[in-house]
Amino acid sequence: MLDQAQTASPPMIAACGLTKRFEDGQLALQDVSFAVRPGQIFALLGGNGAGKTTTINIFLNLLEPTAGEACIGGIASHVDPLGAKRQIAFVSENVMLYDTFTAIGNLEFFTRLGGRNHLTRDDYRAALRRVGLADADHDRRLGGFSKGMRQKCGLAIAILRDAPAILLDEPTSGLDPQAGFEFLTLLGELRDEGKAILMSTHDIFRAHEVADLIGIMDRGRLVMLRTREELRGENLEALYIRFMAGSAAATEEVDRDPAAH
Ligand SMILES: Nc1ncnc2c1ncn2[C@@H]1O[C@H](COP(=O)(O)OP(=O)(O)OP(=O)(O)O)[C@@H](O)[C@H]1O
Ligand SMILES: [Mg+2]
Repeated sequence: MLDQAQTASPPMIAACGLTKRFEDGQLALQDVSFAVRPGQIFALLGGNGAGKTTTINIFLNLLEPTAGEACIGGIASHVDPLGAKRQIAFVSENVMLYDTFTAIGNLEFFTRLGGRNHLTRDDYRAALRRVGLADADHDRRLGGFSKGMRQKCGLAIAILRDAPAILLDEPTSGLDPQAGFEFLTLLGELRDEGKAILMSTHDIFRAHEVADLIGIMDRGRLVMLRTREELRGENLEALYIRFMAGSAAATEEVDRDPAAH
């Protein structure tokens, strides 16, 4: 039943023919399209420089697309940046928080900045408990926090923003296996609550476990896009390597063929 409802619901996060050429001529994205519905996690895999961060930055309107659009809840980010951003919670690899503020202080500051003024200290504590930050750390300054602890604060802020779309750029990079597992379990819970989640990651195994959709990017192209069902029983790592090799061979072919230019 739920699956049917999810399939029928319109996409919350959608890339349509997304293309990005930087000022220096670098073609970072070529005609990338995908859709993430409420209640789905989309994991974007791909090597260094494949275009994952560029894709996410276009959704955040940190970059303008050269062609195509990145839509959040039907709103194109470059057309109505504020309208799109209102519906997004973003967690980056290096969460930017204030070292001189406590964990609670950071949550208070950033949720108010996001317009959520009615939250109480109990709400902040509940969110920090939910992401697994020990009670003893709630009133400590962030200057003494590890990367994983910061990441947890970033996710707590994202949860409190209560946005329908959650975007994460390599959220588990640098986390220990236990913290990585807990982080992705929590993302699974948020997905089950109906959030649409777009996450870039290098963690093929975890992506396979948690994601409903998996995309593989290579040199700006989405060379594979499959659902969890389509990937059942597959060895995703082997598939990843095969797609990368196939994509490299196809690129060489185009490079050799002058008619293709
Ligand atoms: N400001 C910029 N100017 C020119 N080229 C850029 C700029 N930002 C990114 N690029 C290029 O765009 C391509 C995609 O980069 P991007 O950061 O999106 O990759 P990524 O998939 O996130 O890689 P990683 O896994 O290393 O984080 C790369 O070739 C990169 O050099
Ligand atoms: Mg990146």
